[in-house]
Amino acid sequence: MACQLPLLALLLTAASATAMQCSTSALPHNARVDCWPEIVGASESACHGRGCCWRDDSETVNDDSEPFCFYPADYPTYRLVGSRDSPAGGAELALNFRRDSGPSAWPPSRQIDQVSLSVSAHSDRVARIQIADRPDTSRWRVPLPLFGGDETGAAAQQFSVRTSSSAGERFFVQVTRNSDGWPLFDTGSSDGAFGPLLFADQFIQLSIGLSAQVIYGLGEHLGPFAKPLNQWKRFVLWNRDAEPNPDRNLYGSHNFLLAVGGGGRAFGIFLLNSNAQEVMLQPRLGQRATVTYRTIGGILDFFVFVGPTPKDVIQQYHELLGPPMMPPLWSLGYHLCRFGFGTLDRLKFIYERNVKINIPIDVMWSDADYMDGFKDWTVGAEKYSGFDTFIKQIHSQHRSVVVIVDPGIKNNSTGYLAYDLGLKMDIWMRTADNKSYIVGAVWPGDVLWPDFTHPNATLYWQRSSNEFLFKYPVDGLWIDMNEPSSFYQGSDTGCPKGNPLDFPPYVPHIIGYNILYQGTVCPSARQYLGSHYDLHNLYSYFEAKATWQVLRTRPDGQKDNRQRQFVLSRSTFPGIQRFAFHWTGDNNADWYNLRYSLSTILSFNLYGIVNTGTDVCGFNSATTEELCIRWTQLGAFYPFMRNHNSLGLPDQDPAAFSPIAQQIMRYHISLRYAFLPYMYTEFYRATANGSTVARSLMEEFPNDEETWLIDDQFMFGPALMICPVTVEGAVDRQVYFPPSARWFDVHAQYFAEVTPKGLQTVPAPLENIPLYIRGGHVIPMQDPGNDTYHQKLLQPFLLIVAPDADGLASGSLFWDRNGVDDLSLGNYQLMEFSASKGSLSSRLVHQFPIGVQMQLFGLQVLGVATKPANVIVNGRKRQFMYSNGWLSVSNLVGVDLKSPLRASWN
Ligand code: NOJ
Repeated sequence: MACQLPLLALLLTAASATAMQCSTSALPHNARVDCWPEIVGASESACHGRGCCWRDDSETVNDDSEPFCFYPADYPTYRLVGSRDSPAGGAELALNFRRDSGPSAWPPSRQIDQVSLSVSAHSDRVARIQIADRPDTSRWRVPLPLFGGDETGAAAQQFSVRTSSSAGERFFVQVTRNSDGWPLFDTGSSDGAFGPLLFADQFIQLSIGLSAQVIYGLGEHLGPFAKPLNQWKRFVLWNRDAEPNPDRNLYGSHNFLLAVGGGGRAFGIFLLNSNAQEVMLQPRLGQRATVTYRTIGGILDFFVFVGPTPKDVIQQYHELLGPPMMPPLWSLGYHLCRFGFGTLDRLKFIYERNVKINIPIDVMWSDADYMDGFKDWTVGAEKYSGFDTFIKQIHSQHRSVVVIVDPGIKNNSTGYLAYDLGLKMDIWMRTADNKSYIVGAVWPGDVLWPDFTHPNATLYWQRSSNEFLFKYPVDGLWIDMNEPSSFYQGSDTGCPKGNPLDFPPYVPHIIGYNILYQGTVCPSARQYLGSHYDLHNLYSYFEAKATWQVLRTRPDGQKDNRQRQFVLSRSTFPGIQRFAFHWTGDNNADWYNLRYSLSTILSFNLYGIVNTGTDVCGFNSATTEELCIRWTQLGAFYPFMRNHNSLGLPDQDPAAFSPIAQQIMRYHISLRYAFLPYMYTEFYRATANGSTVARSLMEEFPNDEETWLIDDQFMFGPALMICPVTVEGAVDRQVYFPPSARWFDVHAQYFAEVTPKGLQTVPAPLENIPLYIRGGHVIPMQDPGNDTYHQKLLQPFLLIVAPDADGLASGSLFWDRNGVDDLSLGNYQLMEFSASKGSLSSRLVHQFPIGVQMQLFGLQVLGVATKPANVIVNGRKRQFMYSNGWLSVSNLVGVDLKSPLRASWN
């Protein structure tokens, strides 16, 4: 049992402070793990009271964030109880540990003295390491389904594990990659740890040595894509409604990191834990940085992905959580939204004025304006009268409508179905004492919160939305404010004083200092599956799942449960990609937010939520014409492209700007539509294989260290490189062209090949976003339409063949029956193209029987050294044009892509 005499322990530890291993020889600066992570209260005596070392005033430090108070090298640790028996084959290894007596950083009464370590193979490429209390007191475990596990034997296992093995040996666990002996997860060895393992009821901490040169991930934060390994930096994860600003915890928690080292070798680590948590990075010392994981609940449940390439790691992580939903085709089009249309008339006016100037549009959105008193599943009688007719009209034009729903349901609103039903079904989140419902405040005023973990929650959500969806058959739902966000701190009456869930002894550095319930529900609130303390970060996951289910089983007869759905969620947690897409919340209309929107989108692609976008032109504050043009150019290559802005701000739909601006925006949105077949295919690949859609250059060129920190240019799939202008007034920019590839300039005459490569300054006039096709790829395109439906129906395909240095290229095309069927129905066509010097052929990988037009109109081959004498397509000689390496064959109408294609030019 823990020591019950904290005062005595305190005196003893203070007295022995000088004898501790605090010296730089025992612990170099970079290896010092913070023993006073709180924001305030650090002092030499308090630090010694924890049995920790206090930094000498005379020491020079390179970084002000280096901790003053740090754990000594000989801080008490857990030691193996009994000795380890070698498990047979790939079986799970389970070991028990007991903590040394001695000081504890946390109230000794909360200390857990016995812990267990279990290490198993989730699959031959994924190790799972769990550290929990012993005996198991049923601490909180995240109820997330995991996929991709298999029972491979030790022979196939691509990693090895070392742990403490003899009685009394200190706790350690190491996972190395078999192929190269690379350390992937390393808490230290029997000789010493990177930092102590601390395991208390509301404070768990483990430090590891991370052998990497650069890392990515660690949740939703605004700022660079690569996370620094040259400074002391904290990444906090606690879902929060906050305008994106650097160093803030934001809407989603994803404790996944992708680590990359020399030669582009990669591995990944995921901590499956849903409590408030933070990850501390320390400056690298030689090959290793110390990384500290700290959480205030649950257990430590790590997954280690062996890689060895970044793509492998991403695939292994996506496989664990389940594939992202394949988006409906229409949702790849352009979306127009704003908060504050105010009336349906205004919404219609904005829609029509953009249609009139031929801006391609697929989806009109309604924010909370459409509701009656901000109540979900209601429509304001006057301001939105005729909304049903409008939806029909939009549908008749083969476009779509998405509306917002917030989780908070207006309180005390008898006669309102969603409220009455919630009461009847007893579906609300409850106060800690279980005596009443917890009351929050959002747009409608006081609200109650559906507990989406309740077994009847989906039924409740369906029954409260049925009537609405029947009358207003919208095409998708936008779930907002679902961190959940409340205008109260905790509840209308605050949170119960003294409840340790609301006032834990330690709070990660969330916005709002240490008030865990700031802007949300009391952590002590009760939910069916446990306390909100444990479930907070999962609120949107369960809401998204129920909302997806609502759309799958909707009553209007338009949809059936074998169709893909569209749910957009602001808040996220790993696994939500099976039910929802994401946008990055309330960004500001400024250049910084434009610039770093990319990092967030790239990060979400790592997390598996590949269909992510940012409010194009900016949400808060008034945009400018230049900013909105540049943002529209970039947004055209976001996986999800929606223009959205806030209440009371000037309009920022394309038609609101000058004719020149409209023209540039139209061109770039059309460019997106032209690449639709390519983009759609990339989404298919992400769903089918576990890959990103928007991806960093690092992912495509991991061996090229110059790419590792680049986050202001990116790839869409493997073949398109997009280099947005993110600086006001700029008319050129620097672009890094990885020298190992060939690059063709989309805007240059004849798709001129880029030479020289490496870092170059390229022109970027306001009219164009610098855009390049990478050699080695075949890109399917179409003439752009004004909406995806008509484009799909009417436009034949164009294939761009961009050979690599050896004259080779490959690519694929996914195309389906109606753009919404579940992939499992198999109603799609999948073909692969391959080109080698002077020829192109296709192979049908998946064919569905129902007829769909797939005519090929044209073929363009880039980088053709000499003018060919003949071009033959499917046995017939064809007319062609050739100029400066560019070969173009058009008028191929009649060539059906569903039959094998054979083309040659020589
Ligand atoms: C907050 C969302 O982030 C924003 O996009 C939306 O417009 C407002 N809520 C109003 O619903």
